[in-house]
Amino acid sequence: MTDRYVLAIDQGTTSTRCILFDRRATVVAVAQGEHPQSYPKPGWVEHDAARIWRDVQRLIKRALREAGIGSSQVAAIGIANQRETVVVWDKATGTPVAPAIVWQDTRTSSLVERLDGDLIRSRTGLPAATYFSATKVQWLLDNGLRARAERGELLFGTMDSWLIWNLTGGLHITDVTNASRTMLMDLTTLEWDDELLGLFDIPRAMLPEIRSSAEVYGTALDGVPIAAAIGDQQAALFGQTCFSPGEAKCTYGTGGFLLLNTGTAPVRSSHGLITTVGYRIGSGEVAYALEGSIAIAGSLVQWVRDGLGLITTASEIETLAATVDDNGGCYIVPAFSGLFAPYWKSEARGVIVGLTSYINKGHIARAVLEATGWQTRDVVEAMNADSGLTLTALNVDGGMTADNLLMQTIANFLQVPVVRPMVAETVSLGAAYAAGLAVGYWSDLRDLRNNRHRAGRWLPAMDEQRRASEYANWKRAVESAVVFSS
Ligand code: G3P
Repeated sequence: MTDRYVLAIDQGTTSTRCILFDRRATVVAVAQGEHPQSYPKPGWVEHDAARIWRDVQRLIKRALREAGIGSSQVAAIGIANQRETVVVWDKATGTPVAPAIVWQDTRTSSLVERLDGDLIRSRTGLPAATYFSATKVQWLLDNGLRARAERGELLFGTMDSWLIWNLTGGLHITDVTNASRTMLMDLTTLEWDDELLGLFDIPRAMLPEIRSSAEVYGTALDGVPIAAAIGDQQAALFGQTCFSPGEAKCTYGTGGFLLLNTGTAPVRSSHGLITTVGYRIGSGEVAYALEGSIAIAGSLVQWVRDGLGLITTASEIETLAATVDDNGGCYIVPAFSGLFAPYWKSEARGVIVGLTSYINKGHIARAVLEATGWQTRDVVEAMNADSGLTLTALNVDGGMTADNLLMQTIANFLQVPVVRPMVAETVSLGAAYAAGLAVGYWSDLRDLRNNRHRAGRWLPAMDEQRRASEYANWKRAVESAVVFSS
């Protein structure tokens, strides 16, 4: 083969994927590997960044081998990554100096409580929460790294920065979407904010330079341009070709993330959503987005598999849930990392309510799937209220969308059609599209839209009265998760 391809690296929370795409956005090769999650204390979640970098190198090789091509046939590399997760490494040796603190980690909740929420929200578009990077960096510095950071020996980055630094042999940059998740960037100037850096006591010299999401930053693999870096949820927005204001998607991976393109001016939320950068292609205008972030979606299924042992593979949740007709009155609120949008309660903890001896594991499985459905409803209600528009269909993607019962449940709970595209790997596709645009592999956004094909559609089919009463039950269950704070 002499054709050329775009390589996407999707460095996610539970796994890393390297995918090669051709010009028609067809997947040519996939290499995927999971990495361990470390939970050293309740509420703590860590990753080994060095291991993740080794995985990336191995998976790139495997993807090229599977496609039967050499690196000279790779037109560009695009990176999409789990956002907010903090890596701090030694500038001289390139070795991480602490475990990476993952976005789900709530160890900094006492730091967050002391923050001026109004200042943070007006400057960054974000609610003050443990979710974002700033307090995680602050915690690392407060726990033994401050002197080294102040001497200029340490660098901070989210996973995009860490991988680019390694791939290029020392370029320290990030993109504007990732920077917008740190709680350190001014959402309108798109620069690091000195007042916030002072507030969190983070030396500016640790921070990467902020660049656009799609431009040639440097090269890797003997000359292949690294031409995109974009937070994974923004990548999915781009991969779903939601280029126009009013277009939205929801990605179901570890968590669930609903993003609505709001155009070139940031829309401030008054209903618990995040205002964030959607993407910026080179020196083009910034597309902003409103985001409803759900911390726990697929990871609840993973917990049922690994923590409870009720199923042996994630896909069995659907079969188990289908053994019963309804939830039997049982609701699960998976506030493992507190509650994200629209509640923002870092202290909330998960609850299972409505238990009677009637409840069996089928009902639990159904309540697991429904938790994702109701959380989606919560963020859609907030989105409709903030935007003044009513969502008429939901574009979905991500691993959980293979679950037909879940897709039907979401259509029922939202009362709108749910639509899945042909390429479910939209995170990788978005990173590939951004990189491909930067090097001229694809010529423009229209070129990308032509690649979009629909693969599945679920129509709402739930009695309105039942929908309303079950949603009221869900809301009561959420209240008990908030009451049951750690
Ligand atoms: O903000 C966290 C998000 O980027 C994680 O995405 O796909 O790894 O669940 P994912």
